[in-house]
Amino acid sequence: MTSRLLHISASPRGAASESLSIAHSFLETFEETHPDVDVEAFDLWDGTLPAFGPDAAAAKMAVFAGVEPQNDAARAWAAAQATFRRFDAADRYLFSVPMWNHGVPYILKQFIDVVSQPGMVFGFDAATGYQPLLHGKKAAVVYTSAVYGPDHRPGFGTDFQQPYFDDWLRWAGIVDIEEIIFRPNLVTDDADCARQSAHAAARDIAKRF
Ligand SMILES: Cc1cc2nc3c(=O)[nH]c(=O)nc-3n(C[C@H](O)[C@H](O)[C@H](O)COP(=O)(O)O)c2cc1C
Repeated sequence: MTSRLLHISASPRGAASESLSIAHSFLETFEETHPDVDVEAFDLWDGTLPAFGPDAAAAKMAVFAGVEPQNDAARAWAAAQATFRRFDAADRYLFSVPMWNHGVPYILKQFIDVVSQPGMVFGFDAATGYQPLLHGKKAAVVYTSAVYGPDHRPGFGTDFQQPYFDDWLRWAGIVDIEEIIFRPNLVTDDADCARQSAHAAARDIAKRF
């Protein structure tokens, strides 16, 4: 099977985006060093990600109960399946993940809610709980924030971005994870230096990814 890297981007800020810019440094080096790997992009803001509302939630609960979804629920389920197939067709992932209000942008949570389905991302056993269904995949994740930083006082916010997303990857079975972090420190004003380090880390990780 041809190896495929899918870049899933959760920033809507285009040319102004720090996480996209760092991801592009990664991709530039990755494409130079891995000419045999297909690279594709999934911009979560491009309108192709389906909603996950009443019909999809009804379909999910039906499937969980072993019942075939019908009508509108069946259509919503088919859209979720198609998005999962697009995701599952890759064996390597690059995620661009800005911090929004201490967590991840809602479009990324929407993506997680669309693809995290029984029989796709996870299995379930009443005795032992969830079982991850994705195997042999790896992920590189670019995390950015502009206020929160690990060395700041509590007034600068709490990190529900990295722990949440990292836990989702592991829950799905993606345990080979590389992280590239850009959290410039407002107090010491080290943005240029931190940005350069993040781009350098992205290029280094890309070479051996
Ligand atoms: C809607 C929104 C919410 C944000 N919330 C936070 C936050 O809670 N904490 C923080 O440190 N930065 C926050 N930021 C700043 C971004 O995390 C920061 O600018 C980051 O670099 C954005 O990534 P991007 O440049 O790839 O879009 C927020 C930005 C936006 C647009």
